Amino acid sequence: MDHSDRIADLVESLTRAEKLELVHGAPDPDGTATGYLPGVDRLGVPELKLADGPLGVRTPGQAATAFPASVALAATFDDELGRQQGAAIGREANARDQDVLLGPGLNLIRVPHCGRNFEYFSEDPVLTGAFAAAVVEGLQSEDVVATPKHFVANNQETRRTRVSAEVDERALRECYLPGFRAAADAGAGAMMTSYNCVNGTHVSDHRRLLTEILKDEWGFEGFVMSDWFGTESAVGAATAGLDLEMPGITGEEMMEAFGMPDQELSDIDFGNADALPTPETAGTRLFAEPLDEAIDAGDVPEERLDDMVARVLGQMERFGVLDGERKEGEIDTPEHREIAEEVATRGTVLLENDDALPLDDDADLAVVGPAANVAMLGGGGSSEMTAFEETATVDGIRERSDGMVTYAQGVPEIDIPSFFDDIFGDDETVTDADPDTDSASVALDDAVEAARSDDVAVVVVQDATTEAEDREDLRLPGEQDELVEAVAAASDRTVVVLQSSGPVELPWRDDVAAVVESWYPGQADGDAVASVLYGDADAAGRLPVTFAPESEYPATEPHQYPGVNDEVHYEEGVFVGYRHFDATDAELTYPFGHGLSYAEFDYQDVVMVDDETVRVTVENISERDGREVVQAYVRPPRVADVDRPRREFAGHTAVEIPAGHSVTVDVALDDLAFRRYDESDGWTVDAGAYGVEVGRSSRDVRAETGVSR
Ligand code: BGC
Repeated sequence: MDHSDRIADLVESLTRAEKLELVHGAPDPDGTATGYLPGVDRLGVPELKLADGPLGVRTPGQAATAFPASVALAATFDDELGRQQGAAIGREANARDQDVLLGPGLNLIRVPHCGRNFEYFSEDPVLTGAFAAAVVEGLQSEDVVATPKHFVANNQETRRTRVSAEVDERALRECYLPGFRAAADAGAGAMMTSYNCVNGTHVSDHRRLLTEILKDEWGFEGFVMSDWFGTESAVGAATAGLDLEMPGITGEEMMEAFGMPDQELSDIDFGNADALPTPETAGTRLFAEPLDEAIDAGDVPEERLDDMVARVLGQMERFGVLDGERKEGEIDTPEHREIAEEVATRGTVLLENDDALPLDDDADLAVVGPAANVAMLGGGGSSEMTAFEETATVDGIRERSDGMVTYAQGVPEIDIPSFFDDIFGDDETVTDADPDTDSASVALDDAVEAARSDDVAVVVVQDATTEAEDREDLRLPGEQDELVEAVAAASDRTVVVLQSSGPVELPWRDDVAAVVESWYPGQADGDAVASVLYGDADAAGRLPVTFAPESEYPATEPHQYPGVNDEVHYEEGVFVGYRHFDATDAELTYPFGHGLSYAEFDYQDVVMVDDETVRVTVENISERDGREVVQAYVRPPRVADVDRPRREFAGHTAVEIPAGHSVTVDVALDDLAFRRYDESDGWTVDAGAYGVEVGRSSRDVRAETGVSR
């Protein structure tokens, strides 16, 4: 790899001991960074600070803008918003003196159970790639290094540190790697490996993935860091291509960092045994003495250490860190609050609507449910945020309404599992419940009574997910299904607002008048929900994941998920998400790409303008302005002996269309939708006729054309 003369000179001047200090972390003296490199004073190399994301910048004890979860961002189907959210997080990272942001998270959503799906974008590789690139570009436009994670096939949290994803080359290439490729092509300065194994080898030690594919084939020039305590071995990882061990601290230092200097690491109950590798189970400071000794023994060439150091320093140079040029940044600005609200609003998906929405301004509302009096900032784990200011769902609705709004909790509150709770026994994501709603009734009867006497009942329900644990099933936790059923029996205008990480089961679906998915909307929760419920904004979100009954996922056999003997067989191959449901002709709850609008659109005149662009005219035939997400899918030709998905998502364009107007929309078709990966021939485009479908979801095709390849 080519480095600047400055980096080459620096590497030349560093002693072995100094080099080793640049390839493993140390405790941050300020205690704000998640990961820290002390730098080398003698040669003027400054410190490097790494902070968690991806839902905002997370520094302990400090607030920051709590942006919507990644899955909500992807539901906007508007990459420009990804760029804006990324840039805003970048500015906040600068304001917190952080140089590297540990995000975006971009693992493919393979199974709906995965506890971290809210940190990821989609079940589709093209959509994932679009948002991965956008967020990376946004962050790095503020000179903050992006760290796409977790490379690769970290698709579940159950036994995440031990499990091996047994996945074939074709599925890796077509589904699991493209998001990371897009992030690398967008210039990501770093990459974080995952805890799991891929086909039997821990990713930190996976030379084919880290060196042959990421660095050699894709030309990635940044540095590859381990996940926290996820470096499997000194020699294995160094020779595989890992450049930086994180956090690189001892058990005692970790306890200090946790603010518990008098306790032993082994005293901590991590909640579940394989939530996090500990220094005891995984070893730490492997890139300190052990790497030093391995170089002496000739097991790791000295040049590899030089390359590791040059990669870290190279990015420090590229983003101005080496010259002490960190931008000033800004935090909790009106602009950032607006971006958080805009993304939350635009990511809200109107799943169904039986004329109950938009709400009348003066309707009297009964707002019920355990999720209504808090803002849903996210799931548990390293992405947990503390906001400066947040709007609970009921508060946003109350502020917007010209009618009477009563609130009843109805059923006991749902515990949002917190990874940090498990460790420290406290809660870093405390939400101050509104005093008005604090005293709200938990009695189901009161909720039902309120629903009966008001014009409309809005039930706000949630799932509960966290890093380090998967959801056991797709049911709403607690007594929330009973609550919806009871309210729906009392009011024929029942609107359900789901705040979930992804698909949940909706057993009461036929009994309610409307369903809205607002994911984990972040600090602007109530404002965003209100603007969609009242139709101030068109319902513009679309599903980046399919909602299907639990039994329809390719996850019903234990060897497929969550694994047997620590092996998870990705037997479905490339048939992930809607590709699987198309192949099985499953009856879906809501298909990939689905989302109603308050406007109505007509699609006409679809043509190919060139080999990779489809053009369609979309008319808003309703009386209100609307926002449409035009989606394109490619139908590959049948080729003997090759099983291909019926259709592959190829691209999207989101547009505002005023009432009565037509807009001509171009959608660029991603090459990935045409190509397939052949185990012996590599990337292959079969000659033949490809169908090009344009429409509102993977199951709602409005116009069709084709192209030959
Ligand atoms: C998570 C990473 C995170 C790191 C540092 C790990 O447990 O998997 O996503 O960046 O901790 O907090």
